[in-house]
Amino acid sequence: MSLALLSARLGKRQAALEYQWMKRAKSPVSLEEMVNRRVAGEPLQYILEEQPFGPLSIKLRPPVLIPRPETEEWTIRLAELLRPTRMLSVLDLGTGTGCIPLLLCHLLPAGMVRAHGIDISPAAVKLAGENAVLCGFSASPAGNASRNTFRPIQASFLDPFFPHKHLGINPPFDLVTSNPPYISWSEYLGLSTEVTHYEDPKALFGGPDGLDFYHAIAALVARKGFLNPGAVVAVEVGHDQADRVQDIFRTTANIESEIWLDPWKKKRTVVARTRSTIE
Ligand SMILES: C[S@@+](CC[C@H](N)C(=O)[O-])C[C@H]1O[C@@H](n2cnc3c(N)ncnc32)[C@H](O)[C@@H]1O
Repeated sequence: MSLALLSARLGKRQAALEYQWMKRAKSPVSLEEMVNRRVAGEPLQYILEEQPFGPLSIKLRPPVLIPRPETEEWTIRLAELLRPTRMLSVLDLGTGTGCIPLLLCHLLPAGMVRAHGIDISPAAVKLAGENAVLCGFSASPAGNASRNTFRPIQASFLDPFFPHKHLGINPPFDLVTSNPPYISWSEYLGLSTEVTHYEDPKALFGGPDGLDFYHAIAALVARKGFLNPGAVVAVEVGHDQADRVQDIFRTTANIESEIWLDPWKKKRTVVARTRSTIE
């Protein structure tokens, strides 16, 4: 009966796959309730309460954004690019589940990453903290230089006084990453209800043209002393935004950048490097 309901909603093949995943889920939620939620349109990842991100399993809860495969892909590529010879101070803006800094912590050698993740959403910060513990990278108060660590912090990076001293994150940074909200108003109106009913609009909407957060990031990294020489700034962008984001970085921060394509050949990531390299 459950499988028939799912098939009516998703088609036979997809329903069979998802049914197997639900049966295998380590969750106190009954199979029947899972199917009903899925039939009502809830994303599968929220029902399963986890999502693979590279080799990591990331815990999930609505309304925190579900990590996307394109984000996973550029994060892995970024980790391959970095060849740290000393501890890198990493700042992830709009951290959500913490997936980007956690994957960097996992992929880079131990003792080379001290990451902080900023998010305006208390739900995201709580979940990112849980993920830091689950993935083995939570920052202990005593500190331990031989481990990679990630600490999420609630704050808005649109705040003109960001980062306040009391947040305990001190520039300069060696790596700034962000997958900020970048959906424009017209695109937001066209999103499926599977997205708009479950994922936080604050995680999606990037202002009328979708570019508000890139202006803020460029202004931040342009500040004197915000980046170390040779720092890298990597931001995910919407499918038609890469050229405009390159312009914003050039005009606001005076830094040149390159564009990385995602596996579907879309211009997905703008990667800027300041003059000397950290490799
Ligand atoms: C597109 S989601 C990305 C989440 C995660 N980095 C990922 O790739 O899955 C953007 C995140 O930015 C956060 N955010 C929105 N406005 C913010 C602000 N002003 N300051 C800090 N974080 C913000 C949202 O809460 C959301 O978690």
